[in-house]
Amino acid sequence: TAHLQEGLPLSGKKVLITAGPTYEAIDPVRFVGNHSTGRMGFELARAAADLGAGVILITGPTHLQMDNPSITRVPVVSAQEMCQVALDYFDEVDVVIGSAAVADFRPKTTSDSKIKKKCGGLTIEMVPNPDILQTLGDRKEKQYLVGFALETDNELENAKSKIAKKNLDAIVLNSLRDEGAGFGGETNKITFIDKNFNQKPFELKTKAEVAQDIWTEILSRLHA
Ligand code: CTP
Ligand code: CA
Repeated sequence: TAHLQEGLPLSGKKVLITAGPTYEAIDPVRFVGNHSTGRMGFELARAAADLGAGVILITGPTHLQMDNPSITRVPVVSAQEMCQVALDYFDEVDVVIGSAAVADFRPKTTSDSKIKKKCGGLTIEMVPNPDILQTLGDRKEKQYLVGFALETDNELENAKSKIAKKNLDAIVLNSLRDEGAGFGGETNKITFIDKNFNQKPFELKTKAEVAQDIWTEILSRLHA
């Protein structure tokens, strides 16, 4: 079907998308995680495939299914694994979208055996995980690099500072203030901000529609 993809806006382009949560192991049966479902990343992957791209979709633990010949799914568990896989593919891709809810911290040590309750209380020392987007941003050559920002306060300022810190080309601000936006739900309300700090706010929409809006913004800048 390769010839059918010719003439689409992302024909011949490769896209890397991270999606879902990461799980950071405490012991063989316990982890530190978060409520991300991966929905936004899966919609971005589907939309990219529909636009003609070949997609690498790196997913943390999620029940979502993906069956699309243009999308290669690479399942991972932890932030460190996600970072390594992203680095493995980075040189061959044109666009990266980091939509994963990467755990900022992991337990300093992982117990090989299940921790027993007779230990009394439990204090878990946490250490910082690698910042995946920043790691890629530091190595960036031709790639167009897009992050997400989940903010509750000073959202525009914080999102803009993440563009600079991670050497991004754009960031998608997720407005948690609005009903129906954020983790798990069917809908999202975003503002697209590029590295020149041009801002474009969107209405509350389904995540599939939000994915199309994000790709429209990226495409207009890729071709500029
Ligand atoms: N991100 C990443 N690696 C991490 C943490 C975050 O690649 N270890 C990415 C996320 O996928 C997202 C962007 O960085 O695209 C911003 O994530 P966010 O949690 O909003 O920002 P942080 O840089 O982690 O800062 P903080 O949580 O303190 O606001
Ligand atoms: Ca974070």
